[in-house]
Amino acid sequence: MTTPKDTGGGPRRCLAVVLAAGEGKRMRSGLPKVLHPVAGRSMLAHVLDAVGRAGADALAVVVGPGREDVAAEARVQAPDARVFVQAERLGTAHAVLAAREALHQGYDDILVLFADTPLVRPETFSHLREKLKQGAGVAVLGFAPSDPTGYGRLLTDGDGALLAIREHKDATPRELAVGLCNAGLMALDGARALDWLERIDDANAQREFYLPDVVAIARGEGAACAYVMAPAEEVLGVNDRVQLAAAEAEIQSRLRRAAMLNGATLVAPETVFFSYDTVVGSDVLVEPHVVFGPGVSVGDGCVIHAFSHLEGATLAKNVTIGPYARLRPGARLAAKAKIGNFVEIKKAEIGEGAKINHLTYVGDASIGPRANIGAGVITCNYDGFLKYRTTIGADAFIGSNSALVAPVQIGDRAFVGSGSVVTGDVEADALAVARGRLAVIPGWATAFRKKMAALKAAK
Ligand code: UD1
Ligand code: MG
Repeated sequence: MTTPKDTGGGPRRCLAVVLAAGEGKRMRSGLPKVLHPVAGRSMLAHVLDAVGRAGADALAVVVGPGREDVAAEARVQAPDARVFVQAERLGTAHAVLAAREALHQGYDDILVLFADTPLVRPETFSHLREKLKQGAGVAVLGFAPSDPTGYGRLLTDGDGALLAIREHKDATPRELAVGLCNAGLMALDGARALDWLERIDDANAQREFYLPDVVAIARGEGAACAYVMAPAEEVLGVNDRVQLAAAEAEIQSRLRRAAMLNGATLVAPETVFFSYDTVVGSDVLVEPHVVFGPGVSVGDGCVIHAFSHLEGATLAKNVTIGPYARLRPGARLAAKAKIGNFVEIKKAEIGEGAKINHLTYVGDASIGPRANIGAGVITCNYDGFLKYRTTIGADAFIGSNSALVAPVQIGDRAFVGSGSVVTGDVEADALAVARGRLAVIPGWATAFRKKMAALKAAK
């Protein structure tokens, strides 16, 4: 992290401090709360991504003691982030002060975010910073939940100016009647933040250093304090797995809406699950009950039939898959490829117009354009120790119920007779058959029946 330069009248420099040191006890999990995934990536990753999009110049992530896993995720998602350890969990203001060294460095704006509040949009951070630009010392994110129980209340004067924030446990009955609540996130004037934060004490019901107390302190210094409203669903905080499911539902509804507005038809949107990074082109049809894991890109005009599961797969234009198809990481399907029911594709390139229509496993393979893979074909890619590749040429035809024992190459236009176990390469234009020859013995059945009937009668 570098020291921000004096930008004069230039753009304001911003430090974002992400609090991720909470214990998350209510998750009842061996995994730290902020590492629980929502739409295919951790809550922490969502927050770091949003704050990056909002144009923060530097990032500080505050983690609990011994939380190397949380620190590692922060470094993966935001390699430039500085990680600070809050040695004791003494409250949100105390947590921000764990990043004291970064706060010292003279940023214009300090944004404080909670890693367990993963749905906040980048624009919302910008709205908070806008208030600082207009002269506020503190700008708080407010919302009006249907049930304010447990939240800090925003106390305002008759003109709507923000005076203080009162935590639920410290509030008088009159203050508890206030419906306007603190979402927890705020923006602070970088020049004065550290001074204000250091004056917060723990004289309250929970004996914690409350970040929201910064409002009353800043007011006392004559600084203006403002708040910006956010929709309740955007500031949903995750403390338990019920709220985790609510966050997932909210983000899914955003992703479905974005896919539809981008030109995809979702027949039953509420049954389709996307990942944060799913790319879906236009004129794509997605039938009910389809799951997109991370890393999927679907080209224009594709059809995803019902009950398909995709992860780490790239589909060019006009590809058809399913129903009941499974595309695993490294599946790359060229235009007009067709993958049918109960077909699994892993780490394989499928050529343009190739067809793999029924009950097949293709892994560690490359299938040429227009090749036809019959029902029940298996690429045997694993011997219990290592993986091997199968290469099938253009216009090849692999008969049903064949096992291709890798490493193996089938040449262009070659045929493999059904039921073959292919253990060696097949040259282009050849026919390979590897199974017992058909023997037909006329009249055998009649003779057999006669003999057996006689035996039975003699018993
Ligand atoms: C906080 C606010 C409350 C607001 C609510 C919104 C305070 C004191 N209260 O309450 O006004 O309505 O959020 O959801 O800020 N954390 C640390 N170290 C600590 C304590 C907390 O890193 O010592 C982190 C947590 O991981 C979490 C965030 O700070 O990401 C908020 O902490 P939490 O205990 O959930 O605060 P709330 O009681 O929800
Ligand atoms: Mg909370």
